[in-house]
Amino acid sequence: MMLSTFHLIAALGEATATPYFIYRLRDAMLVDPTGRRILKDRPRINSTTLTPEYLRSLPENSVGRAYLGWLEREGVSSDTRAQVRYIDDEECAYVMQRYRECHDFYHAITNLPIVREGEVALKTFEFANTLLPMTGLSMFAVATMKPAERKRFWSTYFPWAVKNGVRSKEVINVYWEEQLERDVDQLREELGIERPPDMRDLRKRARAEKKRLEELKKSRAI
Ligand SMILES: *[C@@H]1O[C@H](CO)[C@@H](O)[C@H](O)[C@H]1NC(C)=O
Repeated sequence: MMLSTFHLIAALGEATATPYFIYRLRDAMLVDPTGRRILKDRPRINSTTLTPEYLRSLPENSVGRAYLGWLEREGVSSDTRAQVRYIDDEECAYVMQRYRECHDFYHAITNLPIVREGEVALKTFEFANTLLPMTGLSMFAVATMKPAERKRFWSTYFPWAVKNGVRSKEVINVYWEEQLERDVDQLREELGIERPPDMRDLRKRARAEKKRLEELKKSRAI
């Protein structure tokens, strides 16, 4: 199920994002020295280029360890990202690939889970960060979320995503491979990203509260 959410969002990304999103990302990379370097080097992120053993050997609060911790917590690997298939232009295909592979780093530094609610929050952040119009996205978000999720989205994660996305440096220009040993809090601060409220925690508490109310109702009925 997790994978299908992944794929839905990936497919949606590819369909709605191209060509506008990709051109916009590529242009953002071209005007940034690090972005240009990434385009020239075309590095790939997978379990061969960044092995779990290597990531585990990094310092406790490092970017690499945060990334590994997130992969393990979510039960995914850096190889689960679909290959980019539908983009003809070679450079744009690479930009899309890079975007996909970096997406997990965004999860890792924001600690947002790969449930739909987390993906929508992160997509909103990315849209704001790339300065893309929000209309299509918010329709998608509203259409697919459960009422409780939608409420949390509008009250908590949407404001977080817009504020942080607009304020922070363009995350597509982070050369993650060069940041792995750095302190993750320091990098977040440098990028201008604050961690959103822990979504897994909020979801857990909401579930517990719902259960409590149901039990209360049941005991009253007796
Ligand atoms: C990771 O990427 C490198 C460079 O493109 C490639 O040689 C290698 O086969 C890839 N590994 C996996 C597991 O996909």
